[in-house]
Amino acid sequence: MTSELLEKARKYEERYGAYISGAERPAFHLSPRVGWMNDPNGFSFYKGEYHLFYQYHPYSTKWGPMHWGHAVSRDMLRWEYLPAALAPDEDYDDAGCFSGSALELPDGRQLLMYTGVRSHMDEDGVRRDLQTQCLAVGDGLNYEKTGANPVIDGKDIPEGFNVHDFRDPKMFNMPDGGYGCVVGCRTEDGSGSVLLFESGDGFNWRFVTVLDRCYNEFGRMWECPDFFELDGRQILAVSPQDMSAVGLEFHNGDCTMFLIGDYDRKTRSFERRNVQAVDYGLDFYAPQTLLAPDGRRIVIGWMQNWDTSVSGPEDKWFGQMTLPRELSYRDGRVIQNPVRELESLHGRRVSYSDIPVQEELTLRGVYGRTIDMTVTVRPRSECGYTSFRMKVASGSQHYTSITYTPLTSTLRVSRDHSGTNRDFVHVRECFVRDRGGEIKLRVILDRFSAEIFVNDGEQAVTLTFHTPLSADGISFQSQGKTVINVEKYDIVTGA
Ligand code: FRU
Repeated sequence: MTSELLEKARKYEERYGAYISGAERPAFHLSPRVGWMNDPNGFSFYKGEYHLFYQYHPYSTKWGPMHWGHAVSRDMLRWEYLPAALAPDEDYDDAGCFSGSALELPDGRQLLMYTGVRSHMDEDGVRRDLQTQCLAVGDGLNYEKTGANPVIDGKDIPEGFNVHDFRDPKMFNMPDGGYGCVVGCRTEDGSGSVLLFESGDGFNWRFVTVLDRCYNEFGRMWECPDFFELDGRQILAVSPQDMSAVGLEFHNGDCTMFLIGDYDRKTRSFERRNVQAVDYGLDFYAPQTLLAPDGRRIVIGWMQNWDTSVSGPEDKWFGQMTLPRELSYRDGRVIQNPVRELESLHGRRVSYSDIPVQEELTLRGVYGRTIDMTVTVRPRSECGYTSFRMKVASGSQHYTSITYTPLTSTLRVSRDHSGTNRDFVHVRECFVRDRGGEIKLRVILDRFSAEIFVNDGEQAVTLTFHTPLSADGISFQSQGKTVINVEKYDIVTGA
């Protein structure tokens, strides 16, 4: 049965979603049907299609009582909206249906687990909502919350762990049957942890262990955990809040990390061996993965960051997802590359080889705001070069720059001149592997964003910008002499 609140959201999105024309949205990145979007939720393959739900406030372009928006796709690039899936319509989730995940039950139904947030006022009048984990079961279109909700609550967690910050359940199939679920939880030291729960049937869950803890080392609360095997390693992904920068690896604020380690299934113990940022750009948070039917582990993130989530009065939608990215593990690092499905959207190809670059130059046919472009740069002489800069989304007044400095092996992105009139962070820098002045940059533009995959996915650098679409120029320049190869495809979606 559809509640009044859900019915209201569905009517609203049907009416106002249609007013947002295709050209004002990203073409192959999911944006909200109308209003506000944050985290990806319930990223799954079900009944022959990819499903992606999202944190959703249809009624404004600001965060508000969370619903779950819903879309489906066959290629994870061209999405079709379905009606909103969940609304905050029960006592236990009256303050919001927060992030969660999906899996398919043996009887063919789809199970969603989300964090129900219940409004709660302390004795001293301070609002401290209660967070529990809740279920809804459905057919890929309509979902019914179960009568047993909440299915995981304060009773199920160790003493000292905190029900005010206990959220974002990510369920997964266990290799030898049954289901696991990781949930973020704040502990007595004020910082985060990841709790593991298990279930035989998806409905009855029991606490198993604390998989890892922050101990105030990497930020504070750890949001949106995920836990999966990747090429023989075990990865625990977390999104720490209140992070302090660590060199160029992690930045301040809301950050994302892969904790890379080993997992002993018998003792349920996770041994962390290494840590790595998931994305080195400005706009990336709360990633979630799925295991595709062909065995690929695919991650998608919210292409935004809380501290820079400022929508303008004219905006009709706010927030978008990143490209889905295939993950692999190489030389101690998690590698990310755009899903191969992107190649099926390749349109017109333009390519150049061995072009000498020094003064700023443009190349005929190399422009656009929905493109997949690979640029390889190398020094033209033994003297090397000081820097190489590429401008994209460039017009008479605007551009976003991508600059490589071989001496320090750093890549820097800046949207200072992208048309922003807000004074929040617009520049980010990261280390890339030193390859004697050579660098390969795959740059994917989709109207209001750039995703840069460095050296075949060793780093991903993501940022959004709100530059007018008429600024579609691309230029290259270097201090010192370089030579470049460029291969550019237009992306054709019909949107
Ligand atoms: C992460 C997050 C989650 C929460 C959701 C609320 O961005 O804060 O922890 O479930 O957003 O919208």
